[in-house]
Amino acid sequence: MEQGSLRPIQVVAVTGGKGGVGKTNVSVNLGVALARLGRRVTLLDADLGLANVDVLLGLKPRHTLKNVLDGSVSLQDVLIDGPIGMRIVPAASGMQEMVRLGPAQHAGLISAFSEIAHCMDVLLIDTAAGISDEVVSFLCAAQEIIVVVCDEPTSITDAYALIKVLNQQYGIDRIRVVANMVRTEDDGIRVFEKMRTVCERFLDVSLFHAGTIPFDDHLRRAVRKQKAVVELYPMSKVSRSLLRLAETVDSWPIPAVASGHLEFFVERLVTEPRVA
Ligand SMILES: Nc1ncnc2c1ncn2[C@@H]1O[C@H](COP(=O)(O)OP(=O)(O)O)[C@@H](O)[C@H]1O
Ligand SMILES: [Mg+2]
Repeated sequence: MEQGSLRPIQVVAVTGGKGGVGKTNVSVNLGVALARLGRRVTLLDADLGLANVDVLLGLKPRHTLKNVLDGSVSLQDVLIDGPIGMRIVPAASGMQEMVRLGPAQHAGLISAFSEIAHCMDVLLIDTAAGISDEVVSFLCAAQEIIVVVCDEPTSITDAYALIKVLNQQYGIDRIRVVANMVRTEDDGIRVFEKMRTVCERFLDVSLFHAGTIPFDDHLRRAVRKQKAVVELYPMSKVSRSLLRLAETVDSWPIPAVASGHLEFFVERLVTEPRVA
């Protein structure tokens, strides 16, 4: 393992319990916004569903993590360049296998990630909807979990169900919340407070409001043009709120201890999440 790669990297997973709440758009635009702040960002697309990161950005992946696991290419070859120098590890069918590997492949994956660790400050992970083992593995391996919610009963109940599993079964006690597709800042705070009230009442978990993203048609237009809204319409309301979110994420402390290193993220990822 390279000595130089042993330095803290911020690992942030974006999730939401439910599809269509804006996880991928938040991940992509948070990544581009962090890149604008000068951070070296890698975005790992951990969702095999439709409307992936590569589709949102109009990119065409040539290789996938599956090719890394079978030894045919290096992780460097899998990375594709996104806006403002952000790099993307595209989703692949290898993703599900990533969390269920044998020891030799574990080692292979860890060394593949340590190869690229020296050129990254932030690893963002866009997860699939739901509470599958894969999603839980990625969340438990990350340092920070952002749960995206919108002001709909199903979004709130699905996010609650996810947080409940993370807290009661895996001992996660800190969750960041982004309220998406709301009308006003006040509505965002109300959505957050709804979540916090129910979570802190029934679970042993603390919720923090990471940001509010308004409903804004600029985002939909950017999706149609396969561009990040923060790049295409940087002055729009939605972009300004995403840039603020990036500043907030950038202000979170990064663990200076061993657990903050990328190798440990991959190790945590490939070992079964510890049941609390
Ligand atoms: N802030 C927003 N304003 C307007 N539309 C939004 C916003 N966030 C998400 N959307 C819409 O919701 C769709 C689904 O978003 P997406 O990020 O793919 O969700 P998820 O990854 O949670 O399934 C987007 O294509 C877009 O049309
Ligand atoms: Mg998505």
